[in-house]
Amino acid sequence: MDSRRKPLFDAAPVTPARRGLKFETRDLCRAVGAKRLVDDVSVEIAPGEVLAVVGPSGAGKSSFLRLLNRLDEPTGGSVLVDGADYRAIAPRDLRRRVGMVMQTAYLFPGSVAANIAFGPRQRGDVLAAEEIEALLARVGLPGFAARDVAALSGGEAQRVSLARTLANAPEALLLDEPTSALDETAARAIEELILGIIRERAMTCVIVTHNKPQAARIAARAMLMESGKLVAVGPTREVLHAE
Ligand SMILES: Nc1ncnc2c1ncn2[C@@H]1O[C@H](COP(=O)(O)OP(=O)(O)OP(=O)(O)O)[C@@H](O)[C@H]1O
Ligand SMILES: [Mg+2]
Repeated sequence: MDSRRKPLFDAAPVTPARRGLKFETRDLCRAVGAKRLVDDVSVEIAPGEVLAVVGPSGAGKSSFLRLLNRLDEPTGGSVLVDGADYRAIAPRDLRRRVGMVMQTAYLFPGSVAANIAFGPRQRGDVLAAEEIEALLARVGLPGFAARDVAALSGGEAQRVSLARTLANAPEALLLDEPTSALDETAARAIEELILGIIRERAMTCVIVTHNKPQAARIAARAMLMESGKLVAVGPTREVLHAE
């Protein structure tokens, strides 16, 4: 049979639908010296949910996000990923499964393709040129593989950053003000791109944003932080009203 043709009856077992990771923080704390950056935060984030994290500058939003993929170490409490303490997962594996995109793209000098191939290469996987091209096309940068990252605009660099994270096939995405360094047009384009990708890959997403309309567009639920503490969590519009 011609293997390119789709068989009428597929004998392969039905794979369960993809779903994002579930997070649960329990009395989560991070203190540096006497300062509590994250103070006793307990919250559940459902598989496939998009949760916005809002609050004033210095509230601990970034600190909270960095605890979710163990970029920083909790000094108290725990994080459960799909019900199990995440300390049981090798940190490198955890960071592959829980991708992160920051406010500004931290790309290393060189080509776009080299940046995208970096994550898989660390695990001994080589991305084919077609795979890199497919990722670039998905983030709206077809044909950018050979470009030097030094020549990218802020919006383009942020798209490459996203593609680099997606190259790891993450099951959750942590976004720390991913559009706040961009102008309004570029910000909306990236926002829509991110939303589309989250939906098609059924990823769980936690997004820190100062932009209230953006939080309302992207997330059904939000949590408000102040002085390291979680002070409100619920429907985004209600939480934004409380801020
Ligand atoms: N490594 C650190 N050591 C000590 N204090 C820190 C450290 N990182 C952050 N802080 C402090 O912890 C508090 C929380 O910082 P964090 O960056 O999490 O806030 P944020 O809510 O993300 O703020 P912003 O909206 O400005 O990004 C701030 O007072 C900050 O100065
Ligand atoms: Mg921050």
